[in-house]
Amino acid sequence: MPLVAGVDSSTQSCKIVVRDAETGALVRSGSAKHPDGTAVDPRHWWTAFTEAAEKAGGLADVAALSVGGQQHGMVALDAQGNVVRDALLWNDTRSAQAAEDLILELAAVHGHSGDRAAGAQAWADAVGSVLVASLTITKLRWLRDAEPENAARVAAVALPHDWLSWRIAGYGPEGDPSAPLGPQLDQIFTDASDASGTGYYDAQAGEYRRDLLALAFGRDDIVLPRVIGPTASGATAHASVAGDGTALIGPGAGDNAGAAIGLGMEPGDIAISIGTSGVVSAVAPQRTQDGTGAINGFADCTGNALMLAVTLNAAQVLDAARAVLGADFGQLADLALSAPAGSDGLVLVPYLQGERTPNRPNATGTLHGIRLKNMTQAHVARAYIEGMLCGLADGMDALRAQGVPVERVMLIGGAAQSPAVQEIAPQIFGLPISIPEPGEYVADGAARQAAWVLASHAAGAPAGSPVPQPAWSTTMTKTLPADPVPLVREQYAAVRDLV
Ligand code: XUL
Repeated sequence: MPLVAGVDSSTQSCKIVVRDAETGALVRSGSAKHPDGTAVDPRHWWTAFTEAAEKAGGLADVAALSVGGQQHGMVALDAQGNVVRDALLWNDTRSAQAAEDLILELAAVHGHSGDRAAGAQAWADAVGSVLVASLTITKLRWLRDAEPENAARVAAVALPHDWLSWRIAGYGPEGDPSAPLGPQLDQIFTDASDASGTGYYDAQAGEYRRDLLALAFGRDDIVLPRVIGPTASGATAHASVAGDGTALIGPGAGDNAGAAIGLGMEPGDIAISIGTSGVVSAVAPQRTQDGTGAINGFADCTGNALMLAVTLNAAQVLDAARAVLGADFGQLADLALSAPAGSDGLVLVPYLQGERTPNRPNATGTLHGIRLKNMTQAHVARAYIEGMLCGLADGMDALRAQGVPVERVMLIGGAAQSPAVQEIAPQIFGLPISIPEPGEYVADGAARQAAWVLASHAAGAPAGSPVPQPAWSTTMTKTLPADPVPLVREQYAAVRDLV
């Protein structure tokens, strides 16, 4: 039975799963940590990958593998394949002003000088998303202005998952013994999901917008990764990574698209992920062009669009609640569940790290409605959880406002296992909520893609008519019934804009 591997090169760690290509059964797994910080030397991702692969029992016996990764990170390479500086990650906000500048500059290109709304809509029309600091193109503008010497050395720009796939294929910096095939920049490949988060790729048209890259970076003589189709293989893994060197490397995916395929999401499905970022995502046949910026119109990795509302304040809000209350995960849940829905009027607006949706990079969090009655540990615990979930519910409303159908909601991420989150989420979202079996959805999605690539390859399927996806099942551990308590969101809406 052939085996496949899925890799999740995430913000915090590298996780690898090895699965049976036909059934999806988990065979082995391994993980290794990445360094903290919002600017990271990509060589740490390579080291963590090799360590995780070793812990997963090696990859010598896999027939195909795919890499999912954190979206947007700017991996700028020189002509010798070296990174010109640490990669700036999705959660690095130093390019917030660059994003604003580019919005106004595109407005001017369209003859609407000074009209921010027109510029925002022009970006949404061109690439599906209004620019914020997370998107790669804003980081390139920042590099152009802040580090012109580094900018001048840039010969290619990749994303974290593209770069790791390239390294797995045996390419890399000149003279590096772990990169026997050397710095062939034209061998870097990617997929539509990750390309769609750069700000210079139009997933609808399936083409790079080099004019926009030139607007941001001042030149467009840069190698960009080849975008390959959902079941294509971009290279084979080098023999030093996977045995005899015949393991196919699939296109890979941005992590949110990886999770979507891992969960088997289809149009009508919504996934709410409570992790380092809070993500409300939906798969749909057509991407949105939301000029308000609430929704990113990305691509998924199967040929559909993937709409996302991303908040910066998710699992860390619960960490902050635990710190302030001196409570562990279980105690926080017990405390929250001992207070009434709505926390007797105590409302947390959770912008503890600024916010991305809504776009308020400089906002702070606020606790509103403090009274003697609700200044208890239980009320504070509940208010933190309710506030964090209300931020995500706003994201779901923004999806609905764009006409995205909402039929089934899945709750994922570490915090989805909290009994308090499970009880309060159906009150705030007002919908039944399914909880899938806990898992590494991004790594699993990458493995599933690898199995799909392998099956297409074996069938000799021509490009554009892939074989069906492997029939791996996603098990739901439970479905929580809808339990709408409109008061909670009403209280939140009354104070959300006072920050
Ligand atoms: C999506 C985004 C985050 C990162 C996290 O736009 O910025 O979800 O992909 O890895």
